[in-house]
Amino acid sequence: MAEKNTIRLDKYLADMGVGTRKEVGRMIRNQAVSVNDVVVRDSAYKVDINSDKIIVAGNELGYQSFYYYMLNKPAGCITSTEKGPTPTVMDVLRTAGLECPRFDELSPVGRLDIDTEGLLLITNDGALNHDLLSPAKHVKKTYYVETSEKIKDSDIKKFNDGMDLGDFVAKPADLTIIDDTHALVTISEGKFHQIKRMFNKCENEVVYLKRISMACLKLDESLETGDFRELTDEEIKALKEENNK
Ligand code: URA
Repeated sequence: MAEKNTIRLDKYLADMGVGTRKEVGRMIRNQAVSVNDVVVRDSAYKVDINSDKIIVAGNELGYQSFYYYMLNKPAGCITSTEKGPTPTVMDVLRTAGLECPRFDELSPVGRLDIDTEGLLLITNDGALNHDLLSPAKHVKKTYYVETSEKIKDSDIKKFNDGMDLGDFVAKPADLTIIDDTHALVTISEGKFHQIKRMFNKCENEVVYLKRISMACLKLDESLETGDFRELTDEEIKALKEENNK
């Protein structure tokens, strides 16, 4: 049997995005809400979100506690949930039209530099967020890189061997050269400015950086920069399965 998980009726409806606490309170008083086919007129009535059938104005609601989005991060915003003078990825999501009943609980999984674009997973699933960032999990992240100078064949070995960057030694990484100044790099850690610093160590400079995958999750190339979409059930399942290995 599913575990009991009770919550006030008005909070449940507000979390579901049905309306503000005030609006849903009015709906409840107006007898628009039923629980297990019985009209409930008390906003404080406790519902079991795992088993109760809740109907609002004829529509049955399904409770969702976790939300997962992929954002194609544009350059010019910081990976933060704190409001400040510089736009954040949360501002980008709002501008792109994200309406999540648990918006304030969402946070990005890891950080991308202000000028880095590409895949950013945003979720309120704290356990998954924590696991994907845990150094012990060695989660792979792949980046598309454009450089100012020619990428040398000899750089491949330098990336593979693990690089001494002064304050830490980067773990072995994969470098696949596409052409003179374009490559794919896969790392299994996420230190500050890591890819830029690895190329600097090879006397080169990153002029464009875009993350294209994280674990088994791939950036949906149909997303314009600045756009987001919810993860599919299959993507969420695959991420969790990979994570639990
Ligand atoms: N490495 C970098 O240098 N920057 C990023 O944003 C991500 C990885």
